[in-house]
Amino acid sequence: MKKKMSILDFKKYKEEKRKFAYVTAYDYTMASIVDDSDVEIILVGDSLGMTMLGYDSTVPVTVEDMIHHGSAVVRGAKNTFITVDMPFGSYEVSKEEAVKNAVKIFKETGCDCVKLEGGTEYVDTIKTIIKAGVPVMGHIGLTPQSSTMLGGFKVQGTTPESAKKLIEDAKALEEAGCFSIVLECVPSVVGKKIAESVKVPILGIGAGKDVDCQVIVLQDMLGMYPDFKPKFVKIFANVRDEMLKGLNAYHEESVNGTFPSEEYSFNKKVDLSDL
Ligand code: KIV
Repeated sequence: MKKKMSILDFKKYKEEKRKFAYVTAYDYTMASIVDDSDVEIILVGDSLGMTMLGYDSTVPVTVEDMIHHGSAVVRGAKNTFITVDMPFGSYEVSKEEAVKNAVKIFKETGCDCVKLEGGTEYVDTIKTIIKAGVPVMGHIGLTPQSSTMLGGFKVQGTTPESAKKLIEDAKALEEAGCFSIVLECVPSVVGKKIAESVKVPILGIGAGKDVDCQVIVLQDMLGMYPDFKPKFVKIFANVRDEMLKGLNAYHEESVNGTFPSEEYSFNKKVDLSDL
């Protein structure tokens, strides 16, 4: 059985140049499968708004949604480090509200840390949350909650100026106390440069191979979510096709009467002659 990573392991892994892997999960069953795998970290991402709830973006997701899904994942994955996202609107309004929501998510789910999107502009908020005792993972680059402001789901850091701003963001988040930082959708050279610029692990999604850890959405890597497929998504197993095969076999046997056979029926004799 794998040993659960601790906050202290993140820096240690980076120092030892030991890579690790991070995947989303949003419910008990999927979390228990990830828990049985070698993957070290689970993200209860606000991407659940799209993959689980069918919204067009992550914006409508609420703190209650995150707690509902986050606590199910925590129940399903006892040996895996678990992050829960702070959804849009839960940390931007004031530091007080951010701390209140971070504490609520941390306390009511039993997760290991929260994650929030944003760079230098959120340093004070992050410091206040950490001071309250909740570990914070940063998230820079493409920040889906503000994708409208960024002009859509676009690659970030594509100019020297914007790459410099991302390096500054990563350093500011490290300085603020983030123990690791998600870096989403940047050119591989920018991913490498940022990973070399800080001592905390850079967890890359669409950030190339020279970061410290890879992140991916479970439904994407299992080919279960065909609505949107970014360039960085590799399908490692086509579970959707397997599910369709299973569902259609079930339908066929149900309508042609071969299911349930004796094996799947209760065969105890009951005398019904007087009924
Ligand atoms: O919500 C999510 O799944 C994320 C990943 C894209 C990193 O934040």
